[in-house]
Parts: sequence; C-alpha cells; structure tokens
Amino acid sequence: MANAAQHLKITIVGHVDHGKSTLVGRLIYESGSLPDGKYEAIKAMSQRRGMPFEWAFLMDALQAERDQGITIDTTQIRFRTRLRPYVIIDAPGHKEFLKNMVTGAAASDAALLVVDAREGVQEQSRRHGYLLHLLGISQVAVVINKMDLVDYDRKRFDQVASEITQYLCDIGITPSEIVPISAHAGDAIARRTDRMPWYRGATVIETLDRFRLPPDAVDLPLRLPVQDVYKFDDRRIVAGRIESGRLKVGDRLLFSPVNKTARIASIEGWSVRSQPTEAAAGQSVGITLDEHIFVERGQIASHEDRPPVETNVFRARLFWLGHKPLAAGSRYKMKLATAEHQVEVQSVDRVIDVTDLSSRPSQSVARNGVAEITMRARSMLALDEFQRNHRTGRFVLVEGYDIVGGGIVSMEGYPDQRRSLTVKSQNIPNVESQITTEARWRANGHKSGILWLTGLSGAGKTTLAQELERQLFRKGMHVYVLDGDNIRHGLSADLGFSPDDRAENIRRVGEVAALFARAGVVVITAFISPYRSDRDHVRSTAPELFHEIHVKADLAECERRDPKGLYKKARAGQIPDFTGISAPYEPPVSAELVIDTGARDVEGCVADLVEYVGRQFALS
Ligand code: ADX
Repeated sequence: MANAAQHLKITIVGHVDHGKSTLVGRLIYESGSLPDGKYEAIKAMSQRRGMPFEWAFLMDALQAERDQGITIDTTQIRFRTRLRPYVIIDAPGHKEFLKNMVTGAAASDAALLVVDAREGVQEQSRRHGYLLHLLGISQVAVVINKMDLVDYDRKRFDQVASEITQYLCDIGITPSEIVPISAHAGDAIARRTDRMPWYRGATVIETLDRFRLPPDAVDLPLRLPVQDVYKFDDRRIVAGRIESGRLKVGDRLLFSPVNKTARIASIEGWSVRSQPTEAAAGQSVGITLDEHIFVERGQIASHEDRPPVETNVFRARLFWLGHKPLAAGSRYKMKLATAEHQVEVQSVDRVIDVTDLSSRPSQSVARNGVAEITMRARSMLALDEFQRNHRTGRFVLVEGYDIVGGGIVSMEGYPDQRRSLTVKSQNIPNVESQITTEARWRANGHKSGILWLTGLSGAGKTTLAQELERQLFRKGMHVYVLDGDNIRHGLSADLGFSPDDRAENIRRVGEVAALFARAGVVVITAFISPYRSDRDHVRSTAPELFHEIHVKADLAECERRDPKGLYKKARAGQIPDFTGISAPYEPPVSAELVIDTGARDVEGCVADLVEYVGRQFALS
C-alpha cells in the first residue's frame, strides 16, 4: 500500500478504571501485533498466580521490559491493522499523562474515549473529553466498555451513548463512532460477536481504520523555528528542524518577528559530500543565507507570502498544572517552538468547570483547571493559531524549572499586528519640513498634540470630544476632532470591525492625528481603539505628542445608556464582534488621564479635560 508507512497516532483516554489497559492489550493481540510467545507467557504467568487471564498484564509485561531497558517503549506502543500502523501515544497509567497531553509531548491525531458501561460517564471521562477538545483533537470515537458486565444490554448502551454524545457535542466534538465492547471478552474489538447481535456498527479496529491521517505537515506553510546559529569561518549556519512545509535553495525566507528577509544560499548536509537542494517537514537542516541579516534562536523562518502571525497579545486555552494558582497579572516564561518569552496573564477570561462544562468568571485557575486566558508578552511573538498549525500554535509555561501549564493559541478577537509593523515601500527618504513644529507652536500661541480618547462605545468619547473642541476653539486654540463614526464614512470606509480592520483603522487614524499634531493642531480623537498594542503603536509614532485619555464607564453603564441602540442589537446577536460583548476591550494601563464618565456629569468631565489641556499645552 502506498502510504503504508504513515502511522496514525492515537491516544486512549478515559476514567482510570474503565478498562484502557485491557483494551490496549486486546488491540495488540487481536491485531496480531503481539510478539511471538507473549500471549503464552502471560497466560502462564496468570496461571502461576492462580488468576484468570488478564489483558492488563500485557501492559505490565511490556512495562517490565521497558524498565529493564529492553525493546518496547510503553509510552509509544505500536501495533498495526491490515490498513496501517498505529502508535498509541502515552500508555494508560502513565503518571505524566495529562502533562504530556497538554505540553504536546503527546500530540495525537485521534483519540478513543473509554467509558464503563456500568458506571457511565464519570467526571474523569468529561475532563478527558474536554481535554481532547482543548487540544484540538477532533477525531474522537467512544468505546463503551465492559458490556459483558451489563449482560450486553442494548438499553444500557443507548443510555450511556446518549449521555456521552451530548457531552461531547456540547464541546464541539462529534464522535465518529460509538462502539459497545467488552475488552475483556473480546467483543467488537476485531470482530462483532453473537453476544451483541443488535450491534451492527464498526468494530474498534474498523473505527481506527476510519480515522483520517492528518494533513501532511509538508503541505502546510513553511515553519522553520531557529534552533541555533553556528559560525564556521565567515559562514553562519542557521540550524533548526523544519516543523512544516518545505524549502529549497534560492527561496526567500522571512524571519519573524524581526521581519528581515534573505535567500537560502545553501542547505548544508551534516555528513554527506553532496549538498541537498531542498528539505521538508521533519528534517533538521542547516542553511546559509545570501545576506548577513540578524538571525537568532527563537525566530521562525517562513516564506514571505504565508508568514506566521505577529503579535504581543493572544488568547489561549490552557491546562494548568502548577501548585500555585494561575492568576491575572502573574508572569511566566513561555516556550513556543524554540523561542522563550516573558509573558504576563493579562486576564483570565473563563474558567471551565470540566464536570458540567459550566464556565464562570474568575481571576485565578487552580491546579488541573482549564481556562481561557489572554496573555501579553513584552516583545513581539511569531506564532500560529493552533487550528492552522499545531507545531507553532502550542506553548508551555515554565516557572523555575517546572512546566506549570500548557496551552494552545487562539487569536480570536485579536488582530495580526504584522500589517502595522511592515513597511512595504522602499527607497523613500524622509522629507523634513522647513517649518518646525515648535515654530508653529509659537505662531499659534500653544503647543499641539493628540488627545487620544479611548473607551467603550457609549462611554462618552464623542460627547466629550465635541464639547472640549468647542471650549478650546472659543479660547482661540487650533483644535480639531477626528471621530470614529465620521472617519469610518471616508478614510476607513473600506474597513469593518474585524480585529484586523480595527487595527488598520487605528493605524490610519494615528498617522493622520500625528500629521495634524505636527501641523500645530490640538487633535482630539474619539475611537474605541480597543487594543492596547494599537494605541501603543500610535504613541510610538509621536511619543512627545501623544496623550492617552481613558474615557471610563463600565460595560453595564454603557449598556444602560446605549445611545445608538447598538448594545441591544449586539446582545440579540445582530452585531458580531461588538466591543465589550463579543470582542475585547483592553483598558489603558498607564493613561495620562482617566475621565470617569460614570461618576461625573459632562460639564465636570470637560472641565477636567480643559484643565489638563491648559497645563500640558501652554507654551513655557
Ligand atoms: S474601533 O474599534 O475601530 O476603534 P470606532 O471607534 O472606529 O471603532 O467605531 C466605533 C463605532 O462604530 C461605535 O461607536 C459604534 O457606533 C459603531 N459600531 C458598529 N459596529 C460596531 C462593533 N461591532 N463594535 C463596536 N462599535 C461598532
């Protein structure tokens, strides 16, 4: 068979006593994968101990061999069906099981969830089911085991089957099959038996054979995380393992997050004389580049047209293993591919109770807890959404030397910041104006700058901006308001409210505001500008002119005001990505000024703003 060599990696999960070991033992035996003599040896051992034959002993026997350092690694049990070979990742009973699953030490393509027919769905079955979802393993089948102990009763099977199906569907997993089995007696493992004449579905082995092989890593966009850069003579060799995609000599590589490019000059063979001209996922390579650009461990090389996401903030589904709870504001070291970053938990968005899948707001996550969190890094990160690329979309958190958590990346609600960091036009020198900004200030009689109002929709940005403009104008100041609703009819008419569009909207407004400010105008902007990174970016384009002003009112208050009736629509699901409801708002952490419109009336708020402008914009 053409693809006979490609393994499917499976994980067998389920409550501790629901029969995983027995199932594994059976699978190995019934698929004819057991080494010669092993079955007899176990039989003899059982007899010596005066016990009935136990399939779980097989696991023990394999474990014993591993302990003696012989042949089989029980964390990677192999067997094959007529269709293809399988690797069972992580043997049941392995202590590090959960940790390996979340940390990616055990990345599997599909999973079997084992549920005991007598006991039904237990807390641990749910937890494991949720973990599969958390890890993005969508190919899941359920086996309902120990049917022999419920007299192969169809009704009981239907009951447990519907219970587990409902749970899995709630978390977005549709089981491919639900198979009633007795691992102990050998029903429906390799063949259906007449003890369950009512069951006409797939056996376990057929179920496994129906799982799809994952899209080949080779077919995904190129990701080469840089492991190291070695210097030989005057050559520098960039070394790493190709996690996905392929590359060849002559390809232009983009290194993220520094965003420098260079062509591959050569691919260095480690021992062979002849140099390879191409390489693909799974291979470790050393390459040389045609230009001296800054490359270091942790960067990710890709092709220019399909780069990873660049961001300093992202969302994660996290499994927490630390003894100390994870809390908003905590800092950790994060390892993603070959990179290490300092990250901070910006917020804990949902903590999921895996028993009933209810989610509740909480500021911390206890050991073995599952949560959705938002993380912020000090520097830019190159990563992928887990959905798009497992290898560069998964991370672990480290405290000291311990892995305290693992998770997968989602960019839901957040933009790729690459666009605002990339300058496409080249060979454009800066043109300096003959008239300095300071000269304009003297002519106008006051300084200029950007009063950047940020806050939720309905917080009062527009109202304050207009009233402030009126009062400053009356004082003879050069002042102008840029307002979200107006800009979106013109300059940003092509943009909607997706994270990327908002980021672009704010980038444009920031550039325009900076031009106004350099022209000597006090420019007041009124945009939600929900992302901290976007506001920071505007600040960085004109640091000396930028004043961040948080127009603060809590969500409940804004929703109560609802001046445009938009919250109501958003709650009814008619406006997707609505800030505060279904899209994030990140309040400023070090605003120059906070105006609490929930606590004061318009007059008072504007008075504070006028006073601030008086202090900041007066010529000394
Ligand atoms: S921003 O996020 O890109 O800064 P901006 O301030 O320009 O938003 O526009 C916000 C205004 O657009 C809101 O005051 C509201 O009137 C309108 N709007 C329409 N759809 C949305 C949405 N999904 N989220 C927030 N505001 C929206």
